Amino acid sequence: TESADTRTDITTVTQHILEQQRAHKGSTGDLSLLLTAIASACKWVSNVVRKAELLKVVGVAGTTNVQAEQQQKLDVLSNEIMINLLRGSGRTCLLVSEEDEDALFVSGDERGSYCVCFDPLDGSSNIDCGVAVGTIFGIYAVKDIANPTLKDVLRPGSEMIAAGYCMYGSSTVLVYTTQGCPVNGYTLDPNLGEFLLTHRNIQIGHKNIYSINEGNCATFDKAITTYLHDIRYPPKEGAPAGWKPYTARYVGSMVADMHRTLLYGGIFLYPGAKLRILYECFPMAFLVEHAGGAATDGRTRMLDIVPSQIHARSRIYLGTKAEVERIEQLYAELM
Ligand code: AHG
Ligand code: MN
Ligand code: MN
Ligand code: MN
Repeated sequence: TESADTRTDITTVTQHILEQQRAHKGSTGDLSLLLTAIASACKWVSNVVRKAELLKVVGVAGTTNVQAEQQQKLDVLSNEIMINLLRGSGRTCLLVSEEDEDALFVSGDERGSYCVCFDPLDGSSNIDCGVAVGTIFGIYAVKDIANPTLKDVLRPGSEMIAAGYCMYGSSTVLVYTTQGCPVNGYTLDPNLGEFLLTHRNIQIGHKNIYSINEGNCATFDKAITTYLHDIRYPPKEGAPAGWKPYTARYVGSMVADMHRTLLYGGIFLYPGAKLRILYECFPMAFLVEHAGGAATDGRTRMLDIVPSQIHARSRIYLGTKAEVERIEQLYAELM
């Protein structure tokens, strides 16, 4: 393959955003500006994550967030970066962050028409040992720009207009989609400082991989216990030719586990209602559906759920359609 350094036809994320904007009749360009601001914020967070050890920003900040979690220095820094860039884009009116108890209303000149819910740094437990972490975001359009309210985000996830994540892994990859469009991925070229289009129209893979924190197995319900048994042990009636147990993979950063699930296939499970609906469950459900997969809480399509408050949590199962349908079937039969 040709080296990116000698190619002259590369597509940057900004170019690609504008290309998609042109294809969208009647577009004002506001969403393009917002997405560009998010891409800039992710570059900045990536830079801080990569240098964390050297900049001495590893470890805890000494504060606790609304989730009663110890905040890491990088949680706090990433949150400030996201808020600065989102406000500065002039395109947001309401910001919901994992790290802030209350939603932030943007006022004055800086106010725009979008509401952004985000997890500034996902995978806190992996920060200090250099394992992949990420940023997650979901975007809604405000109903009345003169009067943004929490109701603008306490809506079903299916009403989001865009969602995505950036993974700070062995490379930095930004993956996002807008309502009804393909999911695309862009890899940060550290020399150019640009996200380049590397994954066009991501379709969920077909591998049999499952991803769950097994340490919590004492709390798993009947449906999940049965599902896990079925993917590990051959059927009693005798295994069909070629039967193999599923492979287990669990990073413990939702972004990394979902990035793998999108590219390779399989299922990510978090039965214990830990993950937050607005900035973890919804964006990932939106992406996985746009990539041809599905997401559920066992009984309800994830994107049909209406969160009762901004930090509301849910159990979640998402990945390839067949696996998600099997889980829904087990909930219907056993629960
Ligand atoms: P965060 O670091 O943003 O608080 O999110 C942590 C989440 C998510 O990244 C991951 O999937 C999950 O917590 C892991 O939880 P366990 O450590 O309980 O497995
Ligand atoms: Mn998270
Ligand atoms: Mn987080
Ligand atoms: Mn956290």
